[in-house]
Amino acid sequence: MALTTFEMLKRPRRNRQTSSIRQLAQEHTLCAGDFVAPLFLIPGDKRREQIEAMPGIERHSVDFLVKEAEILHAQGIPAVDLFPSIDPFAKDHEGSEAWNPNGLVPTAIRLLKREVPSLCVIADIALDPYTSHGHDGIPNEFHEIENDLTLEALIRQSLIYAEAGADILAPSDMMDGRVKFIREALDAQGFQNVGILSYCAKYASAFYGPFRNAIQTSLSFGDKKTYQMDPANVREAIREAILDEEEGADMLMVKPALPYLDVIAKIKEKTTLPVGAYHVSGEYAMIMAAHERGWLDAQKTFYESLIGIKRAGADFIFTYAINQILDLLN
Ligand code: PBG
Repeated sequence: MALTTFEMLKRPRRNRQTSSIRQLAQEHTLCAGDFVAPLFLIPGDKRREQIEAMPGIERHSVDFLVKEAEILHAQGIPAVDLFPSIDPFAKDHEGSEAWNPNGLVPTAIRLLKREVPSLCVIADIALDPYTSHGHDGIPNEFHEIENDLTLEALIRQSLIYAEAGADILAPSDMMDGRVKFIREALDAQGFQNVGILSYCAKYASAFYGPFRNAIQTSLSFGDKKTYQMDPANVREAIREAILDEEEGADMLMVKPALPYLDVIAKIKEKTTLPVGAYHVSGEYAMIMAAHERGWLDAQKTFYESLIGIKRAGADFIFTYAINQILDLLN
């Protein structure tokens, strides 16, 4: 037992001694207002289906989806994002169901804005839920995704969703020039107040696997690497972010989240726009799978994932772990 003290005046552990002191020293926090809930839609009434690859997440018919959104909003969740699972017979080469004014998404937007008016309704802009080949854009006979042809389709989809009452459109397709095209089309039709949340840095990621099971889509040829980004790149993400800001985006987003925390932090330094992160289906599914085996605690692991995303600089987070995190916050 040492009776003399030795020179150690600085002891970082003093700030970790009690839960009260730790609270004072805490640098970042999570609150319900940070989160966007992605919700999956199916046709019909009073229907809900479990998504096999995403334990705890369901697809809902529009009526049930509105109920789900009401419950989330009452707990402080400010926004939802809508993804449809389209019947295979309604899919085609161009994804024309994307601009059917009576399609699943526009119908859900109208009902949500009527029943839960203060909820922010975000609608994803991309063709993949609607195309027979599963790509986000329209391919030519050589299986190349045609950028400018796709822009025309995205504008049709955007105007239908704006007309239905969407607060924010979120282009996730990664075509060049889409933010400017969509902004100009919205303004020309009197939708100046509809915002654009651009997935400026969306990577070609294996972490989207469970999502494709959720919306029941698969690629009939190729991959998405000619439009989604190479996971090896970060300067390219900054270039995309700067372009989208110049083109008139109101908010930016990085996707997936955890493998790309450096991208979130770097984009945050380069822009004055709000920056979001999409904690994607694979990031959710792998934690749930390990939890089901008793290998880790889902709620604690989700907290750590989401606070890490916040610490990297995200102003808001799209996540499927909404219920686990709401339980934790309450
Ligand atoms: C498609 C889209 C995808 C996701 C959101 N929008 C999949 C893809 O690009 O293949 C993935 C979301 C997730 O994995 O949670 N435009």
